[in-house]
Amino acid sequence: MASIPNEFIDELIHRIDIYDVVSSRVSLKKAGKDYSGLCPFHNENTPSFTVSQQKQFFHCFGCGKNGSAIGFLMEYEGLDFVDAVQELAQMAGLEVPISQGHQQKGHKNLFAITEKAARIFRHQLKGQDQVINYIKNRGVSAATAQTFQIGYALDQWDGLMKRFDFSEHGQLAETGLTTSNDRGKVYDKFRNRLMFPIHDRRARVIAFGGRAIEAGQKPKYLNSPETPLFHKSHELYAYHLARKHSDESHVLVVEGYMDVVALFEHGIKNAVATLGTATSPHHIKNLFKVWDEVVFCFDGDNAGRQAAEKALFTALPLYLDHKTIRFLFLPQGHDPDSYVSEFGHDAFKAQAAQATPLSEFLIQVISKGIDTDTLDGRAKLFHQAQEPINQLPKGAFKKLMVQRIEDLTQQTIQTQVKPSNKTTQRIDPSPVRKIISLLVNAPEIHQQLPEGLKFSPFGNKGVALIDKIVEICRRNPQISSAALIESFRDDAAYEHLVPLARQYDHLSDEEKTHEFNDLVRHMQKRHRQLQINTLREKQMQHGLTQEEKQQLVHLLTENMN
Ligand code: UTP
Ligand code: MN
Repeated sequence: MASIPNEFIDELIHRIDIYDVVSSRVSLKKAGKDYSGLCPFHNENTPSFTVSQQKQFFHCFGCGKNGSAIGFLMEYEGLDFVDAVQELAQMAGLEVPISQGHQQKGHKNLFAITEKAARIFRHQLKGQDQVINYIKNRGVSAATAQTFQIGYALDQWDGLMKRFDFSEHGQLAETGLTTSNDRGKVYDKFRNRLMFPIHDRRARVIAFGGRAIEAGQKPKYLNSPETPLFHKSHELYAYHLARKHSDESHVLVVEGYMDVVALFEHGIKNAVATLGTATSPHHIKNLFKVWDEVVFCFDGDNAGRQAAEKALFTALPLYLDHKTIRFLFLPQGHDPDSYVSEFGHDAFKAQAAQATPLSEFLIQVISKGIDTDTLDGRAKLFHQAQEPINQLPKGAFKKLMVQRIEDLTQQTIQTQVKPSNKTTQRIDPSPVRKIISLLVNAPEIHQQLPEGLKFSPFGNKGVALIDKIVEICRRNPQISSAALIESFRDDAAYEHLVPLARQYDHLSDEEKTHEFNDLVRHMQKRHRQLQINTLREKQMQHGLTQEEKQQLVHLLTENMN
């Protein structure tokens, strides 16, 4: 894992304003000291999502999601920690110091390699009339080719390799751009192919697809292998372009690079493609982060139909009530590219508008070849429906489906009740919890503590966490709530800290200090009482040493105050 120094995270949280980060993505209204809006992480009609500018964190009372600006970006944009920090640092004009020797640095170098390769391929289009004609004949304009950074790999064994320094050849192989034969001879993987760079969500080149341009050249498409930068089941072609159109009601998922390019050429820019693999849960989750509706558009052939069925079953467990999935089947023999090229933008849009809802398609699939007019048929359908229905998450849609199947089969479905893993966190009002709440709410309050006081010896549950928090505060006395909470990102307590911090928002600074001192005193007193009890016990059974007697007197006096 890449490590970013805590001081940098503190500085970053200090420099940016979570209000800016959230309000550019969620519409917020002032509500008392805070801002509130409709939670982007679950479906709701009345706002339970709040942003505290003062505390620099967000919290949804509905779904419990919470965190700093970093956490918000991670959740909202589907970024990992380092990427979210990098994006915020860019906003703040800061350079992220990533400690060397870590994976991330290696990745950075690999990106330099793939980006350079993409530039080389792009350059190599110049003067290649045959290739340029191929692109033109497929109806792709120069502007679109530029947007997708379409390029060309020369018909040579080392056309790309020779453009790289010898010291970079290892990395070139790591990105899958070169490969080697049994005898160890290294050569370019892509030769005489039209090159489609594949980008990650941050628009960095991570892999390539190369299309044959001559008859008989096999395979038709050659793709980069899995590499440290490229995991097919996570990535979607053109996701970085399509997500600019998050205001569209839906995203189209198609099968081929050329389908995305052709749709774009015809002004349909909310399309992505899977990369020669089946649709994965990662794909669907990433799409649902940006759009509420996904329209799968598979080719109008048998393989397309099968791909659609696979996507259907992958999607079932992810099919939440506020999300929609539909399936668009183009006329036999057409793919999105050929359809939009022949019939144009409007015709394609009209097709998309009529796409089959998931519920319809599911019924079609499970009742395939079954005659529901017969008793046998109905029994069979009933049987086939069990598994998919149980895959659906609890909610209105599931109820509806159960109803439909019951109507069709005239039988009653027993749905399995899965234990919900989202039980709302009950806040235990123990003094330990309260002390933690106050510390994360107002970190400067740690200065109230007697020097050197440690809570761990008190032995209650959670005291180690208090000591950890206090230690961080002592190292950085100016630390903000959000930065303090951020330093617990890898701790099991992390997600509970924001809700805890909110417990004391209603108190004034003095009241907080008062409460805090009371709680600490209470805990100290209780601990002394326990020690007194132990000593007394011993006194009655074996008597006490001189030292123990003094200690007992000391404890008794202390506890009288
Ligand atoms: P298709 O065979 O449907 O190609 O493959 P296409 O998109 O219509 O391409 P054109 O119009 O002939 O240029 C769809 C996708 O399947 C993967 C590629 O990702 C391609 O975009 N594929 C296909 C391969 O990986 N290898 C192949 O040989 C063929
Ligand atoms: Mn095609």
